[in-house]
Amino acid sequence: MEILVKDNYEQMSVAAAKLVARTLNAKPNAVLGLATGATPLGLYRELVRMHKDEGLDFSQVTTFNLDEYVGLTRNHPQSYHYFMHENFFKHVNIPKQNIYIPSGTTDNYAAFCQWYEQRIHECGGIDLQLLGIGSDGHIAFNEPASSLGSRTRIKTLARTTIQDNARFFDTLDQVPIYAITMGVGTILEARKILLLANGRPKAAAVAAAVEGPVTCMVTASALQLHRDVLFVVDREAAGQLKMLDYYQWIQEKMVDAP
Ligand code: GLP
Repeated sequence: MEILVKDNYEQMSVAAAKLVARTLNAKPNAVLGLATGATPLGLYRELVRMHKDEGLDFSQVTTFNLDEYVGLTRNHPQSYHYFMHENFFKHVNIPKQNIYIPSGTTDNYAAFCQWYEQRIHECGGIDLQLLGIGSDGHIAFNEPASSLGSRTRIKTLARTTIQDNARFFDTLDQVPIYAITMGVGTILEARKILLLANGRPKAAAVAAAVEGPVTCMVTASALQLHRDVLFVVDREAAGQLKMLDYYQWIQEKMVDAP
């Protein structure tokens, strides 16, 4: 695992965008796994800027989003479809037919989940998977006790996640209880994984993911089993890492650090 510590949110976002751009420069038809939440907003903003100012081209890119709330239509302002459209897709040139987001309104979830996994496979697998992290250490919506081999499926959200995400809804009882999410096993098949985290509320989850035991109670800890994972975090989110000095020492010695 590599840990890159940036001074603030802005720098974290710019470093992450550079890595995405590097992937696209090396492989213009890359398959990207995309995440939602407040964390990647700065990254999407920077990618949009690079598209507009520097001609970063997405015309051959395919994307698969991690998750979606069950029961929210695609134009519901809190749906991840809406989030992705507003914050990213409508500003860049990814062909519509190359965009995949789990459906929160299908009438056959089992068939949909199987189809989603199959589409990822048919598109050649995910080259770069972006992730945030929940305060309980979850990735996508793989809540504590999710199988580390899990595939795309429906998950019941933990109370902490419902409370964390209530900030985006008018009332707590408007937050959906179920989500459709890529599994931990699905995520681990990506060729490269980039996890972003910022702010003190994420510090415990980041430390557990990087330095704790591999456990289904912190699904981000499963990333320790992947051979190409980069955490880009701000100082606050790095606050509980015991080996922080060492990670910074490695960073100083890195020739091509973003
Ligand atoms: C949700 C999403 C995750 C995201 C997490 C953290 O649970 N399913 O993909 O990483 O929220 O969100 P935020 O970045 O808003 O803290």
